[in-house]
Amino acid sequence: MSEFLSQHKRSHNCNTLTKADLGREVILMGWIDSLRDHGGRRFVDLRDRYGLTQIVFKPETDEAQHARAQELRNEWCIGIRGVVEDRTANGGSANPRLTTGEIEINVLELEVFNKSAVPPLQIEDNIDTSEEKRLQNRVLDLRRGPLQRNFHLRHRIAQATRAQLDEEGFLEIETPILVKYTPGGARNFVVPSRLNPGSFYALAESPQLYKQMFMMAGFDRYFQIAKCFRDEDLRGDRQPEFTQIDLEMSFVQEEDVQGVVERLVARIFKEAMNIDLQLPFKRMSYADCMARYGSDKPDLRYGLEHTILTNVIADFDGGGVPFFKSTLDDGLMIKAMRVPSEYKMSRAETDKLEDLVKQLGGAGLGRAKVGDDGAWSQSPFAKVISDECRLAINQAVSAETGDLILFQFGKPKQVHMILAALRTHLAKKFELAKTLKGNDAWSLHWVTDFPLFEHDEESGNHVAAHHPFTSPQKGHEDNLVSDPGSVLARAYDLVLNGNEIGGGSIRIHDDQVQAKVFDALAMSDEEKQAKFGFLLEALRYGAPPHGGLAIGLDRLVMILTGATSLRDVIAYPKTQRGTDLLTGAPTPVDTHQLKEVHILSTAEKKTNA
Ligand code: AMO
Repeated sequence: MSEFLSQHKRSHNCNTLTKADLGREVILMGWIDSLRDHGGRRFVDLRDRYGLTQIVFKPETDEAQHARAQELRNEWCIGIRGVVEDRTANGGSANPRLTTGEIEINVLELEVFNKSAVPPLQIEDNIDTSEEKRLQNRVLDLRRGPLQRNFHLRHRIAQATRAQLDEEGFLEIETPILVKYTPGGARNFVVPSRLNPGSFYALAESPQLYKQMFMMAGFDRYFQIAKCFRDEDLRGDRQPEFTQIDLEMSFVQEEDVQGVVERLVARIFKEAMNIDLQLPFKRMSYADCMARYGSDKPDLRYGLEHTILTNVIADFDGGGVPFFKSTLDDGLMIKAMRVPSEYKMSRAETDKLEDLVKQLGGAGLGRAKVGDDGAWSQSPFAKVISDECRLAINQAVSAETGDLILFQFGKPKQVHMILAALRTHLAKKFELAKTLKGNDAWSLHWVTDFPLFEHDEESGNHVAAHHPFTSPQKGHEDNLVSDPGSVLARAYDLVLNGNEIGGGSIRIHDDQVQAKVFDALAMSDEEKQAKFGFLLEALRYGAPPHGGLAIGLDRLVMILTGATSLRDVIAYPKTQRGTDLLTGAPTPVDTHQLKEVHILSTAEKKTNA
């Protein structure tokens, strides 16, 4: 054991000492961030989680130690005993960017806890090392300031969550991770059971059913910072293993759950960011979001609203434009986005927008530049469209001189998607959100009144839009089987700056309604029992009305830290291919191990063949 540690306790961290401490003897420990020699002295910036402190080895203080200090290198882990001195009085200059920028420590005693090999990446805030190399050397990567700050903020958010929900009477209870496999919903990771040959657990994709059963068990208010596992195709805002702030409450309606979540998010913003959010958050229906922004998670910090023109143009029977007419005859949608004149684009730039539309699967991009008196130019429709129809379109989209109108035609889903993508593309191009400051930089709103089901074009069946335990809206129960597409759900999503950071619903607490929803999902009685018999059974014994929500903690931290990837806010993340570059997981396991869990790997057979 180090003598140094048995004789000395760390007295300060590397971000505390100031001129108020001059003359004090201190003990610091940390890593060597940088080294330089100046005027015969050896200067070292000592780094720990908290900050940097300059320490100095002077030959006149201790010649032998000054000589030892010549051997020090970056990332060595050391401890020192020394005296706080005034940098400027010693002939140096103060560093106003550091809390400790006016002092330095004259070292009396040096202990090297551990040397370091030359690090394969620089421990600096801004590096251009590839992400692959960073993830392979994650321990060193995590030493870097931006990542240390991200995890500091993540911790603050977790603590604010626990404090707030505890104050509101929520109990923190854990739910199992090894759970029953139920096909449907997100694809599950499966785990073979050694003790039950041929049987598998799934890794929980969320605590959903367990938290509902907590309500049936009378726990009234539950929360958990819960790990969830989904074997999905990965994107920047998805990880196979992620964390939710998960909660559930009994005897509530939508506004009760939303109120708890608003107060929670406000506390998080205050404690983590010192930002006072205005409550309540805005509420918008799903239908309104789709019509005005083409997305169920629109960023409301800027305009670029859309307008559905199908009915306007139908009033003029296509207005003389053959393409409008045929679109109407095919029962398709016509929609437009007005780009105000202050967002100036050259002809070439507008052409690029059309390329983007084609990449997204669109046929092309209709456009019209609005001139004086509402005339159109730069438009294939300009010559043929009737004055009345043109003016009605201008009016519907509130077009003014110099504006550009962009049109999309086709199946509603595609039209919404393409115009939504153009909206975010233009917002990025003109930096509409990036330049906002203070409270304006944050936009939170609820999206409500989602459809209960989505139509799955592949299978031709209806699938649950949220999950199959979501309650239909009052009065919609009768349509569950006769017209499932028209049923609205008591579901709500929380959107932050154009990202879905949370989703929840009021649940079904009546076993008959639950069975009807399963019917609408084309589940047989056998299937219902096999998959969810335990839930239907629990619903039979006085299940209380209940509802809840889960916030994606990683996504929230990502947005609040300004990180561009979830990988910068998850300590040991997976790559797009689901691998952990630090440890090399997943790896093959030997045949003995597989045999024990009663598995024969086809992948292995192929390589053996
Ligand atoms: P949902 O599936 O909408 O709801 O998830 C809730 C929130 O979790 C985040 N999220 C993810 N974050 C990172 N990687 C992923 N792969 C990932 N998937 C989801 C999102 C999302 O809004 N049990 C329900 C909640 C409820 O009804 O109470 C559920 O899991 O931010």
